[in-house]
Amino acid sequence: MSEEPAPYGSGSSSNPAIRKVRTHHLQEMKSRGERFTMLTAYDMYTAQIFDEAGIELLLVGDSASNNVYGNETSIPVTVDEMLPLTRAVARSVKRAMVVGDLPFGSYQRSAEQAYDTATRFMKEGGAHCVKLEGGVEMVPQVEKLTRGGIPVIGHIGFTPQSEHALGGYRVQGRGETAQRILADARALAEAGAFALVMEMVPGDVAGQVTAECGIPTIGIGAGNQCDGQVLVWQDAFGLRGGKMARFVKQYADLRGTLLGAARDYAQDVRSGNFPGPEHTF
Ligand code: KIV
Repeated sequence: MSEEPAPYGSGSSSNPAIRKVRTHHLQEMKSRGERFTMLTAYDMYTAQIFDEAGIELLLVGDSASNNVYGNETSIPVTVDEMLPLTRAVARSVKRAMVVGDLPFGSYQRSAEQAYDTATRFMKEGGAHCVKLEGGVEMVPQVEKLTRGGIPVIGHIGFTPQSEHALGGYRVQGRGETAQRILADARALAEAGAFALVMEMVPGDVAGQVTAECGIPTIGIGAGNQCDGQVLVWQDAFGLRGGKMARFVKQYADLRGTLLGAARDYAQDVRSGNFPGPEHTF
């Protein structure tokens, strides 16, 4: 344990001895059986709050496409749209590891393309590592990045950028296709990925990958046996309305709170209650 006080309340972090989260900390936490946390973040205030809460990894996800830019899927978002969000989050954290998410079309063509894009996330976005979607077929990209000094998180199972190729939002790895998930996980770990997101994978398959692949796994809809968990914050804290995926647990109703506050404000202005004398010079 560190002699110095932790940057935040010791109760707020799963491991207050970690002053700045590094790749080796996640591997050590896996070895000790300590679970860790990841949330998406796309702006300064949420990054500051989640960092203060002790969340180990902040993912500037390409889900910004839906949750920031108003698209229906993650497919349209571009590198140039992702970089300012990544930079805002990276500037705002003291402890969390910031993960830049490579958008669709920015890395699939070749290892060189992936390296060029990931370099922009590290240099211009200030990301500490990058995430990319895909399994065995991404081995050349992962090898190129890791040899070039860029830590990589893989993302397998349901990969939202391939929604149309996968036939919609579907659990991946049921039955015989479980072997493909295991093969993808092994290949990415051997190529040098330091962690693995698994999305919408049966819990037992995710548990087997977690036990066998050697690197930390981060589940989203992948059951309780992963080393860490990730959720999109607007889902988890209820900023987004509408139907939620089964794997989302909702911890707050921020949409309801904001809606009430906006209505109260409008009512106050319309009735002449705001601004009052105390708000007036
Ligand atoms: O972009 C994102 O939010 C993600 C999570 C679903 C893991 O990739």
